[in-house]
Amino acid sequence: MTKAQNYDFSGKSVFITGAGSGIGRTTALAFAQAGAKVAAIDMNEAAAQETVGQIEAAGGKAIAIKCDVTKSAEVKAAVDQTLSSFGSLDCAFNNAGIEQGVYPLTDVTEELFDKLFDVNVKGVYLCMKHQIPVMEKQGGGTIVNTSSTAGVLSIRNQGAYCATKYAVVALSKSTALEVAGQNVRINALCPGITDTPMIERVSGGTEEGHARLVAQEPVGRYARPEEMARACMWLCSDDSAFVVGAAINIDGGQSAGIG
Ligand SMILES: NC(=O)c1ccc[n+]([C@@H]2O[C@H](COP(=O)([O-])OP(=O)(O)OC[C@H]3O[C@@H](n4cnc5c(N)ncnc54)[C@H](O)[C@@H]3O)[C@@H](O)[C@H]2O)c1
Repeated sequence: MTKAQNYDFSGKSVFITGAGSGIGRTTALAFAQAGAKVAAIDMNEAAAQETVGQIEAAGGKAIAIKCDVTKSAEVKAAVDQTLSSFGSLDCAFNNAGIEQGVYPLTDVTEELFDKLFDVNVKGVYLCMKHQIPVMEKQGGGTIVNTSSTAGVLSIRNQGAYCATKYAVVALSKSTALEVAGQNVRINALCPGITDTPMIERVSGGTEEGHARLVAQEPVGRYARPEEMARACMWLCSDDSAFVVGAAINIDGGQSAGIG
């Protein structure tokens, strides 16, 4: 578990989607270690339960909620359950997402294109749609949406995925303007290549696949999921109180340029 002693989220509740794996799970553990009550949300219920088990074993407080972020009623129910369990909805990390394989746009099926937009874009829209009224009513809150380096930089053979992640940045910025005056702060987090099950699938799990991805990182390594968790906690903390509608690159220099 990441060391999070300089963040204090005691008394706060955090809603995290994609909490059954990778960046979402690690962030759920980090928030819990910092004292937050965590709603671990995932369409994979067993995985969400496993995250909760890990949090409870470390002395933290969490509930698992099965929810497909593409279904409005399920997202609303997850928000309502978080509220009824914890009494508030202070922070949200809308992070659930899916990838495409490494191939040109002409090989992307219509079915995959729709699914990518459903999960990566509509999922974020539905989460914010149901979270914002709750946060406005309680006097404020913070929302972090997971985009990607692929949301600020175009990547060959990732056209459909890039389009979804650019859309997450646009949604985050536009909506941030709408609610900044109500003390609801929205930003996008743009991770570089991060060591998770998703990246294991993208690399194919081979040495060659890993080498190909590491070569895209100026620092010569993958990010650790804990580095995303720390960035998310910063974006949810008062340390970033003046950061609104930003797309924050945590990417080892990947988006800085060519060379
Ligand atoms: N790993 C990376 O290198 C990387 C880089 C940039 C951005 N991202 C983004 O970070 C986020 C997390 O990625 P990860 O690497 O941890 O992936 P992951 O595959 O390890 O975890 C994703 C989780 O989301 C859940 N999920 C998928 N569809 C869902 C749905 N419809 N409803 C609810 N839950 C759903 C999965 O069950 C899984 O537990 C994604 O949005 C991804 O696009 C990842």
